[in-house]
Amino acid sequence: MKRKDYLSRRIFLNKLTASTVGVAVTGLTASGRSGNNLSIGSNSHIEPWKQTSDRKIRIGIVGGGFGASFFWHQHPNCIVEAVSDLQEERKNTLMEVYQCGKSYNSLEELVKDDKLDAVGVFTDAPSHGRHIVEVLKHGKHCITAVPMSMTMEDLYLVREWKEKTGLKVMMAETSMYHSELYNARSIYEKGMFGKIVYSEGEYYHPHVDTAWGYNQWRNALPPMLYPTHATAYYVGVTGKRYTSVSCLGFRGDAPRYSNNSYNNPFSNETALFETSEGGMSRINIFWGAEGAHGETGRLFGELGRFDKNVLHIGKGIQAKYEGIGDRNEIEYPDNRPALPEGMNLGGHGGSHGYLTNEFIMALIEDRAPLIDVYEGIAMTAPGIIAHQSALKNGERLLIPDLDRE
Ligand SMILES: NC(=O)c1ccc[n+]([C@@H]2O[C@H](COP(=O)([O-])OP(=O)(O)OC[C@H]3O[C@@H](n4cnc5c(N)ncnc54)[C@H](O)[C@@H]3O)[C@@H](O)[C@H]2O)c1
Repeated sequence: MKRKDYLSRRIFLNKLTASTVGVAVTGLTASGRSGNNLSIGSNSHIEPWKQTSDRKIRIGIVGGGFGASFFWHQHPNCIVEAVSDLQEERKNTLMEVYQCGKSYNSLEELVKDDKLDAVGVFTDAPSHGRHIVEVLKHGKHCITAVPMSMTMEDLYLVREWKEKTGLKVMMAETSMYHSELYNARSIYEKGMFGKIVYSEGEYYHPHVDTAWGYNQWRNALPPMLYPTHATAYYVGVTGKRYTSVSCLGFRGDAPRYSNNSYNNPFSNETALFETSEGGMSRINIFWGAEGAHGETGRLFGELGRFDKNVLHIGKGIQAKYEGIGDRNEIEYPDNRPALPEGMNLGGHGGSHGYLTNEFIMALIEDRAPLIDVYEGIAMTAPGIIAHQSALKNGERLLIPDLDRE
């Protein structure tokens, strides 16, 4: 799928023009010494969303915690046909939030509903693999919360069923619709980074590793089994892959780290990945490091470095893109696409509205969604292998290639 260029034409560096850089590099504003003239966070310069079809996708939503924080009922091309949660209270929450009168007691019952085109799997993470396969086996498209799965066996099964059925599978990775990651994709695609020499992705969530969630699945959760908010900063930007990894873990001293269902001793993990571009990528996933909170990433390309929506331009890019002159920073505004009128953005950097729209529009337009099964697996599998490496004291391990043959 060729990505659309959503960068604005309105705001532009004084000297930098599309013709001088040879690509449509717009939506930029000079920063640093010269100051900004468009605030990050506003994408009011983007073309409004236009409805192109009257078709309605009938979706079933499962999981009334995180699953209740999307905007399916607000999308003009979507109807929430049914909802489900094993827990009565959460099932009621889903019915209320999505204004839906039909419910089932379990995902296993909901997937049999012939009226459904698609199912949203927002169940506990260890069940995702099994639940995605159950949805595909019943002939429905699937959007799943992250991660795609927690075992390699499940990932192979998800890929097998996706390829057997030809149905669409999307992973709802919220980082993909952070304004800076979205911009970094455009910059990479235009060749303005060159190859990524080194990148960093970080997900810090203090105390997430206690006994909460369905069946207490977060209790002593191995950090690298939840890698996608961080791996998205390389895999999501480049569409390239992690090929090998060496990972170390910090031993948690809470009692849960000596006795848990994962046999996991680590509360914080750091991995160094080799990339298919011949570069390096460092991922931190921490549940307990003072002051570390949130998700972010940085990219160091041959030509430019990107951090917090600012592209720091090196001599290489100045030479390659004649006309950039002696500017050394370009600051990007929010260039994410517009949403249907009245639709909310929601949590995680406003990503919930974008993820809702992207999945529905991928079905309407019959195209691969932004984070399709292969991208979702490529963000998930490296963490599973990284945790295996940490358990072997950092032994370097190869990451299997699960892309389409
Ligand atoms: N930024 C993000 O991307 C983000 C943020 C929060 C949560 N999540 C993900 O979303 C998922 C859900 O998170 P949560 O906090 O709501 O988890 P949770 O464990 O609180 O909720 C899972 C729900 O799934 C239900 N469930 C399990 N099996 C079911 C079945 N067979 N049929 C019907 N219902 C079933 C449970 O009853 C429970 O209510 C997790 O995988 C989590 O990783 C992602």
